[in-house]
Amino acid sequence: MRFVYLDHNATTPLHPQVLEAFIACSRDRFGNPSSSHWAGREARCALETAREQVARFCGCDPSELLFTSGGTEADNLAIKGVASASRRRGRHIITTAVEHPAVSASCLSLEQEGYRITRLTVDRLGRLEPAELEAAITPETILISAMWANNETGVIFPVAAIGAIADRNRIPFHCDAVQAARWLPLECRDLGVGLLSLSGHKLRAPRGVGALMVRKGVRLHPILHGGSQERNRRAGTENLPAIVAFGVACELADASREEAAGRVRLLRDRLEAGILARSSGATVNGDPAARLPSTTNISFPGARVDSLLAALDLQGIAASSGAACSSGTLRHSPVLAAMGLSPETAGGAVRFSLGDETTGVEIDYLLEILPAILERLCPGGGPRRG
Ligand SMILES: Cc1ncc(COP(=O)(O)O)c(C=O)c1O
Repeated sequence: MRFVYLDHNATTPLHPQVLEAFIACSRDRFGNPSSSHWAGREARCALETAREQVARFCGCDPSELLFTSGGTEADNLAIKGVASASRRRGRHIITTAVEHPAVSASCLSLEQEGYRITRLTVDRLGRLEPAELEAAITPETILISAMWANNETGVIFPVAAIGAIADRNRIPFHCDAVQAARWLPLECRDLGVGLLSLSGHKLRAPRGVGALMVRKGVRLHPILHGGSQERNRRAGTENLPAIVAFGVACELADASREEAAGRVRLLRDRLEAGILARSSGATVNGDPAARLPSTTNISFPGARVDSLLAALDLQGIAASSGAACSSGTLRHSPVLAAMGLSPETAGGAVRFSLGDETTGVEIDYLLEILPAILERLCPGGGPRRG
């Protein structure tokens, strides 16, 4: 059986050079970067080199970048850290209805503490209307949090327009760029982004490392307490091998972005067209114009996503959904619900996310085995005939 991995929005395989850097650092840079002796100094030097690499990647000064345990911690720190530092100024946060749980659950937890949260809705294609953001701002607003690209649909938000509104109103703008980072240039120096979250494992670095860019002048309280690491903003001994690997992954991602995005887009479009040609009634969810080149989210009418994913898995294909399946019950994706999809359409939605190692042969294999699966699982909406 062939094994085909089409779940790169969940996590990506390590780049061989990234793995090498991880191993070399684990072996040779065992000191604690906070120690003042030679072993500590060597480790500190490796840490600061990685900081420069990641800072270059997202267009900030190295002093504006702090390392975290991943995207989730970066999002929590941005939202709770700004809320805590600004609570005397106001208690209103604006976010969107389609954020990753790392953002939405952080906002929910603040809501339970008495903050007011406005969740901007999106249209049928998952698009945000910047004018609605402008209208939601009040003198109490202390933070705007909106993602760069959606993890379920790949839809890209108008970051520059959001940043301009935030800038004009002097409100810090936090942007979760976790999914955008592999495919879009993140040069955000002039985009009005005050805080930017990154995660290593979405761009071929190890899991368990990420970063938060905090622009000079943005006030942030720490959420972890302990040592004085990361300029007193993130306590805890740094995960140096993963950080060093993250730095290398950012350099590699920058160097190959354009070529990789072009190649992956062609494959994704081939996959999408092939699926639509083979399944009557299948529909693509999300803005066809502003979408990550790697991602397609497709609803198969009459099908249940858990059955589809299990059938694909039996044929060696790893894909996923936005809905969490637990003990046989489906929880529908809040992202697809916010886009106005019916529970039936959302309940049959599969996300295919391609990556650097995806090949045309793999796409053809999926298209070859799909009709038999649809025949079995999509009564009435199965393979297109004739
Ligand atoms: C948009 C987005 N934000 C945040 C995260 C969380 O990142 P991590 O897995 O590094 O905690 C993810 C992970 O899927 C994501 O897709």
